[in-house]
Amino acid sequence: MRKIADVGAAVIGTGFIGTVHVEQLRRIGVQVRGVLGSTPDRGRARADALGVVRAYESLDELLDDPSVDVVHVTSPNHLHVPQTTQILAAGRHVVCEKPLAMGASESAALVDQASLSGRVNAVNFNMRFYPLHQHVRELIAGGDLGDVRFVTGHYFQDWLLLETDWNWRLEPDKGGSLRAVGDIGSHWLDLATFLTGQPIEAVMADLTTFLPTRAQPQGPVETFSTDRSTETIEQPMATEDVASILLRFANGARGAVSVSQISAGRKNSLQWEIDGSNAAAAWDSETPDHLWLGHREAPNQVLMRNPALMGPAGQAAAALPGGHVEGFADTFGALFRAVYADVIAGHPSERPPYATFADGHDEMLVGDAIAESARLGRWVDVARVPAPLTAGSVP
Ligand SMILES: NC(=O)c1ccc[n+]([C@@H]2O[C@H](COP(=O)([O-])OP(=O)(O)OC[C@H]3O[C@@H](n4cnc5c(N)ncnc54)[C@H](O)[C@@H]3O)[C@@H](O)[C@H]2O)c1
Repeated sequence: MRKIADVGAAVIGTGFIGTVHVEQLRRIGVQVRGVLGSTPDRGRARADALGVVRAYESLDELLDDPSVDVVHVTSPNHLHVPQTTQILAAGRHVVCEKPLAMGASESAALVDQASLSGRVNAVNFNMRFYPLHQHVRELIAGGDLGDVRFVTGHYFQDWLLLETDWNWRLEPDKGGSLRAVGDIGSHWLDLATFLTGQPIEAVMADLTTFLPTRAQPQGPVETFSTDRSTETIEQPMATEDVASILLRFANGARGAVSVSQISAGRKNSLQWEIDGSNAAAAWDSETPDHLWLGHREAPNQVLMRNPALMGPAGQAAAALPGGHVEGFADTFGALFRAVYADVIAGHPSERPPYATFADGHDEMLVGDAIAESARLGRWVDVARVPAPLTAGSVP
């Protein structure tokens, strides 16, 4: 049986999140063989800064390295499909950042390719791996909340509030035609389905662009950077700054989520509440070690994350004892532990706890329905073929 220290990984993209991947791979004991940057010079500079031995000059060179078992794709969105296609064709396992693709037609082909390859395929929906999210999913599946009826929340950030804020995500050919929804709403939507176990069946969406033009600097800009360029070009904006979306889930539950990248003061605020027929639960990413449990006939509770007080899934995702706050970067370590257990086995497990390409594709289908609903101004069904099975449905 292989050990984790025998497994080699390479990371494509050396920006904000590529750096988190490198750090969290090392934390779980995986050898990071090398990185691939947008140019050989940039890749070399980031490899040196991160203490990574190799900076590959191309994806071909990376895939020629026999010591690489798993490739992590953390490049801008438009590169996910071509790079992932090449990685799977080369017989490697792959962890791809969200969103999996630029649209559902692309991601459908990836699901087929991944399935035929037999390789481990994961989408980095890391929010699932807050230990309390693993725990509350078990609570809901075990009936503690009763029937799930109402799922609400938001994902707000403020880093694109100003006309002078710029990033590749604002360019539809790099980020996709859905921006706030594709970038951060995708996390919330995946999480809502993961926690409740209920696919989203229909959506009614309103998308709004408040800043019709933005000042594009001449030269690349780091994600979340607040540096301002003096030389800029005014660019028209077509993608949404905010989204208001109504949801219908497979079991009949209803939902409502708001998404914004222009909410002053909200740096990275994801909140949700799930109201069931017996009890409710709620969580706020700014206090990620606290789970609120609401009761009608008894005092409400706050569960502080503690392996001793959570079920098996929550315990598996937790790395530290209670009271020692775990946050954003820790979720990557927990997700990678689950992925690399399958890598060591050589194939995906039957029901992986991480999001697979099939889950990433499902989120793309929901995204496509959101875009169509906003365009048509009416409810749109999520176009799953075949339709998902729900509790009580006949296969
Ligand atoms: N899971 C999460 O919580 C999370 C958070 C942030 C970003 N992301 C996702 O990660 C991806 C990257 O986002 P980011 O915020 O790190 O962006 P970023 O701009 O900080 O980093 C992107 C990196 O990709 C590199 N790159 C560009 N073209 C390349 C190419 N052809 N080959 C190799 N590298 C190339 C850039 O030089 C840069 O280093 C996006 O898909 C984004 O949606 C996920």
